[in-house]
Amino acid sequence: MDLRRLLPETDPWSRQLVISQGTFLELLDMAAKQRGYRADITLFPEGEFDAKAPDGRPTARIHLVRDAAVQPDPLFAHIFRRHTHRGKYESRIPNVDARQAMADSVKGLPVKLGLVTADEPSMQQHRQIAMDAWRIEMQTARTLLESYKVLRVGPQEITQHRDGISINTPMVRGLVALGLFDRSKPSEPDSSAIKGQISDFNEKMALTPACVWLSTSDNTRTTQMGAGRAYVRLQLAATALGLRMHPLSQALQEYPEQAHNYKAVHQLLAGADSDATVQMWTRLGYAPEAGPAPRRGLQAHLDKA
Ligand SMILES: Cc1cc2nc3c(=O)[nH]c(=O)nc-3n(C[C@H](O)[C@H](O)[C@H](O)COP(=O)(O)O)c2cc1C
Repeated sequence: MDLRRLLPETDPWSRQLVISQGTFLELLDMAAKQRGYRADITLFPEGEFDAKAPDGRPTARIHLVRDAAVQPDPLFAHIFRRHTHRGKYESRIPNVDARQAMADSVKGLPVKLGLVTADEPSMQQHRQIAMDAWRIEMQTARTLLESYKVLRVGPQEITQHRDGISINTPMVRGLVALGLFDRSKPSEPDSSAIKGQISDFNEKMALTPACVWLSTSDNTRTTQMGAGRAYVRLQLAATALGLRMHPLSQALQEYPEQAHNYKAVHQLLAGADSDATVQMWTRLGYAPEAGPAPRRGLQAHLDKA
């Protein structure tokens, strides 16, 4: 794990970073199979790091072994089409077959899958918690500033960094060009920039036809990896069906200002299982394909040590 890229305000225990590593391992495993290799993966070969913070120990050791018995995974075909879609979704809801394909994609992994659609009364609660949590994140100075640090506005910044959160809208680019958007300090909670982001999100949420989530019965680092593996499989299965996803992580984040939403979302999604952790919760719906997020490329990820 790159310890220079932790997000201590919004991901204080680095739970989400471990999930993201799980997504990588799953894709690596599929790619290996595609080439006739078996990926033997040992998680945390020098032990799991602390529940609170990662350290320099490796998160996985991988041996690639040629193996005539490995079968390619049909989800591999969708890897280059899988993109997070942050825009509006159509109103139609996923049908029974789509639900089944999504459920099948995470079989054998240590997760429980849940799905709600707009024809069910609880959908309104999902929308409300997501909106409340988004507002809190936007109006909490520390968490907003953490996002501002990795905000890349316009093609030049996006190309230079190829990471973080990309914004390419004319309005925000204009504000930056005119020196009217100072990312070194948090915007006022009632400023037009914050109000605009809140109303954009609320509008998308109100139209969202479904949500899907993954919960786990414990919250060890190994389980978080498993949740990541499940998450990317779920999104690949959704991609194959023309369905898009967009994580709603704010209410799942473990910082004090979100405690109320964290509790509400766990009660709604995990119900009676008070030990369960909701690892991923996302919007789900049909929409035209979104473009790819910027990537830093392979070399930037290789440690020369
Ligand atoms: C654990 C986890 C939580 C995430 N939560 C959010 C989120 O709440 N909102 C968001 O816009 N992106 C979130 N992302 C990031 C995107 O889903 C995505 O991984 C990233 O932007 C790269 O884009 P891609 O999916 O198009 O490859 C999250 C990613 C991970 C791994």
